[in-house]
Amino acid sequence: MCPPEHFRVTYSINPWMDPAKPVDLPLAAAQWEDLRDRYRSLGHTVEELEPRPGLPDMVYAANGATVVEGRVLGARFAHREREAEAEAHRDWYVAHGFADVREPEHINEGEGDFAVTASWLLAGRGFRSSPLSHGEAQEFFGRPVIGLDLVDPRYYHLDTALCVLDDTVDGEVMYYPPAFSTGSRAVLERLFPDALVATGPDAVALGLNAVSDGHHVLLPQAAAGLFDPLRERGYEPVPVDLTELLKGGGSVKCVTAELRAGPGSLEVSQA
Ligand code: ARG
Repeated sequence: MCPPEHFRVTYSINPWMDPAKPVDLPLAAAQWEDLRDRYRSLGHTVEELEPRPGLPDMVYAANGATVVEGRVLGARFAHREREAEAEAHRDWYVAHGFADVREPEHINEGEGDFAVTASWLLAGRGFRSSPLSHGEAQEFFGRPVIGLDLVDPRYYHLDTALCVLDDTVDGEVMYYPPAFSTGSRAVLERLFPDALVATGPDAVALGLNAVSDGHHVLLPQAAAGLFDPLRERGYEPVPVDLTELLKGGGSVKCVTAELRAGPGSLEVSQA
């Protein structure tokens, strides 16, 4: 996670961002700290990435890379305003002992558009990540990539419209069908016939921009319609208030990069 020290909305690269709406920085910091502390109280380790001045979107740490079994595919941002974030993330992984850190050739916005299930990598395209990044990720990680077309500008990243609830079994996801093209919806129905299907009000609260550890699901508190369906499936919803971060077009998942087997695990993944 990257503290929102330099978080501002000074430009608009998604429909949520309105530079005319001021960000309450102390409130953003308090909300961010609350999320970080919740992860810790649930027993998770949280590493902090040093924020860099002039990179107001750096708080959305999920976009900086994708890590699977200790292998790190760096990001290449679609917008000039965020370009310099990619290097900060790669530097962090190298400094923290990740041996296999790749600078990508094609545009991909990290976990914004890549979601890891037990067997696959789900990959969004349409607004940010290039379709060419899908082949690049498949080659790098050696796992099948399922390309999904995003069609609604409010759901410009895959992680605003789909969340993997359990990455040890393939069926456990929740998503918002209207964010996807007809063909991609059919793919999702085929792969995930028992998925939790979200409604419009929960999607627009960025309820799918959630992080699950396989049991606890941390999600925006306004997405209350998801709480009971999650409980019925055996998950424990953990509502959090990240309204200031919503002004940049992100919530829980956007501000959380998942390390998925940290440094030292590389021996395991190469064995
Ligand atoms: N303002 C950022 C952008 O538009 C928000 C990124 C949100 N991150 C995410 N993982 N969806 O790029």
